[in-house]
Amino acid sequence: QTVDWDASAAGKAGHDHYMHKEIHEQPNALRQAISGRIDELTGNASLDIDLDERYLQAVDEIHIVACGTSYHAGLYAKELLEPLVDLTVRVDLASEYEVYDGFDSRRTLVVAVTQSGETADTLSAIRRAKAPGMTTLAVTNTVGSTITREVDDSLFIKAGPEIGVAATKTFVSQVTALALFTIYLGRLRGTISAGDGADILENIRRLPNAVQSILDAEPNIKRLAKQYVDSDAFFFIGRGLAYPVALESALKLKEISYAHAEGFAAGELKHGPLALVTKNTPVLAFLSESASPDETFNNVKEVESRGAPVIGLSTSDGTESFCKHTIDIPSLGRLEPLVANVALQLFAYHVANEMGRPIDKPRNLAKSVTVE
Ligand code: G6P
Repeated sequence: QTVDWDASAAGKAGHDHYMHKEIHEQPNALRQAISGRIDELTGNASLDIDLDERYLQAVDEIHIVACGTSYHAGLYAKELLEPLVDLTVRVDLASEYEVYDGFDSRRTLVVAVTQSGETADTLSAIRRAKAPGMTTLAVTNTVGSTITREVDDSLFIKAGPEIGVAATKTFVSQVTALALFTIYLGRLRGTISAGDGADILENIRRLPNAVQSILDAEPNIKRLAKQYVDSDAFFFIGRGLAYPVALESALKLKEISYAHAEGFAAGELKHGPLALVTKNTPVLAFLSESASPDETFNNVKEVESRGAPVIGLSTSDGTESFCKHTIDIPSLGRLEPLVANVALQLFAYHVANEMGRPIDKPRNLAKSVTVE
């Protein structure tokens, strides 16, 4: 007697798509990313970083270079690093990164964020950084990748293999690794106290369960996706830490559904994008405690008065009660927008699935782009 066996179906472990499987793998991926890296007693992150500590104490500028989803992880990291570690952080799309005179290359660390470690634009940016002698660090998922052989040191995100072209678990793991790196740098440079470090670490420790609570709300998110699948466009608005997540959520939706989706800094709506808002353009608004909900609520009113249905992602039961729909986000300090992102991965997935798109292999896109 034989059993029909399909390698691809087996790899999906009962899910219809790799992307769906990978979204659901996130609590475990995060446990792996965090495992052994939290030192609660000293409020510090233990990372296998071999860069010279005196050099890291003296650095006064970080340049982050990355593409696509990894660029959004870099933008999130800037929002963590700048207020907590007291240095200037510049985030560049790798293909746009130029090195000019006028800054001290010996006091600048260049961080490449790349899931695959093979993206040609990112490799090329790192080579431009190395020419004047800047120190380089890769934040990557792939041990032995090209970038790990070119940089001075690597920080691994330990997300496990990702097959779906649209990055999901690697984004969440990149931001988590960069949050740990923020604590490590802040403790080293004396800008984060042991108590503050322990508080942030506590939120990182709670992250896998927080993500699980979003996955448990999938039926609600799927219902919203079905309700709005025929919309003209989808807009995502957020401030501070939620702005990069608005960009990432829009990218996810456009990649896999081909719908028109855009992310905006909430305050920028009135400077142009508001012209696009109609009753057929749902607006997904980040209203969690750590993302200046009161200011963003004013922007929610701007779009609601133009008839747009608003889906609020919120930690509290105040402002969001004015939104047409809400998705609850657990309280998790600076990591709330990251958890909200998981809800919008599911939203993107179900919109695309409703449309019958080839979710794991969207047209014209590749998992890893090895040409400039
Ligand atoms: C491609 C993928 C994106 C990814 C980007 C950067 O464009 O389709 O999902 O974000 O490359 O990839 P990396 O491996 O450098 O993170």
